[in-house]
Amino acid sequence: MAYINWSDSLSVKIGSIDNQHKKLIDLLNNFYENVNQGSSNEKLTGLIQGLKNYTNEHFTSEERVMKVNGYPEFDAHKKQHDEFIAKVSEIQTKFLSGKMVLSIEVTNFIKTWISGHIQGTDKRYTNFLLEKGVK
Ligand SMILES: [Fe+2]
Repeated sequence: MAYINWSDSLSVKIGSIDNQHKKLIDLLNNFYENVNQGSSNEKLTGLIQGLKNYTNEHFTSEERVMKVNGYPEFDAHKKQHDEFIAKVSEIQTKFLSGKMVLSIEVTNFIKTWISGHIQGTDKRYTNFLLEKGVK
């Protein structure tokens, strides 16, 4: 069983965004498996960079959709994205300088943040964006 399974409880009812969230979850599952099996630092370096890059790409895409449609909670939503990226960057910097190991606590933090953000913050835009015709 995967570390985190995508299920309907994580659906924001917008197919294009659900697909991005599914890819994010795939990357997190792969990262978790490698942390759990004690993969090399070199491998983990690549995986956390890949996870951060895709998260950035997804956030940028989601922010563009919110912005062009005039979503009223855009600023607060973007702030959460920015704080998460800053936190992951901090973890990455500490890891690269040898001050921190990538542990299950780290993957748990990422998992909890992503699922909480999708269910608590992303879902707030569902009705608004659906009414604007976003698919
Ligand atoms: Fe979001």
